[in-house]
Amino acid sequence: MAGAVETAQELKVAYGRLRAAYQQSLRYARDLKSVHDRLQRAFLQSLLGLANALEAKDPYTRGHSERVAGLARELALRLGASPSEARLIAQAGLLHDLGKIGIPESVLRKPGPLTGEEWALMREHPLVGARIVAPLEFFAEGALIIRHHHERQDGSGYPAGLSGEAIPLGARIVAVADVFDALTSDRPYRRSLERREAFRSIEASAERLLDAGIVSAFLCLVAGGRPDPLL
Ligand SMILES: [Fe+2]
Repeated sequence: MAGAVETAQELKVAYGRLRAAYQQSLRYARDLKSVHDRLQRAFLQSLLGLANALEAKDPYTRGHSERVAGLARELALRLGASPSEARLIAQAGLLHDLGKIGIPESVLRKPGPLTGEEWALMREHPLVGARIVAPLEFFAEGALIIRHHHERQDGSGYPAGLSGEAIPLGARIVAVADVFDALTSDRPYRRSLERREAFRSIEASAERLLDAGIVSAFLCLVAGGRPDPLL
């Protein structure tokens, strides 16, 4: 009987130790998770610094990345993405043109049409951007969005000539936000369009260039939740 009591006591002590060890590992896991999250944020912040450096090089795109990110997040949420998916799409929107960092200012700011060689350089930027973020394993989907943000629905885009749903959803969302912001901003080679003209131009691009479902979600979003009857 005394032996049974001792065993019960020992079991109780062992259980207590096990519980304490479990609580300790939970604390370690939480600490690790928070360090991991902080590291991820720090990496993204440093890339944002690079994106800002790019915007300083090219005043015409100042604020462009942030507007694209904001619009892409709204669009993603409207299309049913979860908050974390929408955040990833917004982060990719912030960094979508990062690859332009390697393009000379004389090309970025050129007021006239680009030569074949300059255009070839410009078309490299999605690949260069995706390569810059490639070491960030947690951002693999974001790298894909950056890589494919200039693909077009009919396969006429670059770098891979993907078409339709073969283009990652996030890239199709960023493309709509990017085209709208580009149309409504001044560029070295043309003045900005009025919002209404930009809406018409985007609507005309649905199916052939941009994803029609995302375009109609965009038009609802900018028209305050209902299609604009004047479009
Ligand atoms: Fe781009």
